[in-house]
Amino acid sequence: MLTTQVYAVNRDTADCLQVRTEEIEAPPAGHVRIKVEAAGVSYGDLLFQRGVVPGGPKPPFVPGCDLAGVIESVGPGVTGLEPGQRVAALVVSGGYSTAVNLPAERVVPVPEGVDAASAASVSLNYFIAYQMLHRVAQVRSGQRILVHGASGGVGLAFLQLAEHIGGVTVFGTASAANLDVVRRHGAVAIDYRAQDFANVVRGTVAEDGTANVTTAYDKDGTVDAAFDPIGGAHFWRSYSVLRKGGRLVAYGQNDALRDGKPNMFIGAVGFLGGIVLPKLRPDGRKTGFYNAWALEKSHPEAYQQDLAEVLNLLSADKIAPRSVTKVPLRDIAQVFVELERGVTGKIVLDCTEA
Ligand SMILES: NC(=O)c1ccc[n+]([C@@H]2O[C@H](COP(=O)([O-])OP(=O)(O)OC[C@H]3O[C@@H](n4cnc5c(N)ncnc54)[C@H](OP(=O)(O)O)[C@@H]3O)[C@@H](O)[C@H]2O)c1
Repeated sequence: MLTTQVYAVNRDTADCLQVRTEEIEAPPAGHVRIKVEAAGVSYGDLLFQRGVVPGGPKPPFVPGCDLAGVIESVGPGVTGLEPGQRVAALVVSGGYSTAVNLPAERVVPVPEGVDAASAASVSLNYFIAYQMLHRVAQVRSGQRILVHGASGGVGLAFLQLAEHIGGVTVFGTASAANLDVVRRHGAVAIDYRAQDFANVVRGTVAEDGTANVTTAYDKDGTVDAAFDPIGGAHFWRSYSVLRKGGRLVAYGQNDALRDGKPNMFIGAVGFLGGIVLPKLRPDGRKTGFYNAWALEKSHPEAYQQDLAEVLNLLSADKIAPRSVTKVPLRDIAQVFVELERGVTGKIVLDCTEA
């Protein structure tokens, strides 16, 4: 059987991707071979390809962290999974493929009636938001949280999952054009270009930028948790609005790539100033960088449980990405170029034909 894969071949520009077709072996013991139907595209894939994430994969590698497809064959020793079954999986890399072999414990059955593109569109974004909300920050009703990039893929997942918890006050930052999306999910929308989010959270200015005389949504001017994918000094600013006992959950480095220009210092500034420094001067507030793969090592059961829960929420119409655009696998280079300029909604690669 053949597999067609997209390789990131160097880091110079976003379109340095190459399509290659080669033979894929029969699944070895404990593995299943999946005919991939859909693979999610995430901003993090582009950050890996441009080489701005410390410890990220080195070219040549196949990007893509989430996929959905149908089991084509199972290797010796695999039980509970069978050919024809639709499954989803998160992988460190390799999603941009028409066929892959994966260890059986990495795949999670997709509920009846859920199509592959929908499954792939929630697997990474909602999975990581779910873990950060429930396993890391343990957000519950009555708390206040700050979500940056609230109209983006992961940001919107936070908003929807917080609605599902119920009774959580959410502050969400986005650009002016996307504020309505944030409000539709019941969050206080903050225009990150026009306003200082810290002033809105503290209640010194209202959502519309005027002096806040009502402080209607102000409790004590702090939040219980802040979720930050921006990086650099932004981590420190998010940390500054935490209550005592609150937690900064950093999980990305968007600022390390602006207007197509990599900035390798952003990662170091964010880690040192926003995560390490507060630990050296303990004041009751906690900081940490969430990494899906590190959490899996300390909580091996979490991967299967949390991905299954996200797929169940999708099946029950409790969550839904903003919009899903399907693009043929071979068009990925153009998608990366557009991703670097900024796109709204979720892009999913159609991997059914190369
Ligand atoms: N740690 C992990 O395990 C892990 C795994 C997967 C992904 N990630 C990370 O998750 C992050 C988000 O990915 P995504 O796919 O959700 O990206 P996305 O859909 O492109 O969303 C990013 C959003 O950030 C907003 N934004 C940009 N600059 C901002 C600023 N200064 N303040 C507030 N918002 C700002 C943009 O909003 P506007 O469009 O309104 O300007 C955009 O909607 C990436 O950094 C990725 O690397 C981490």
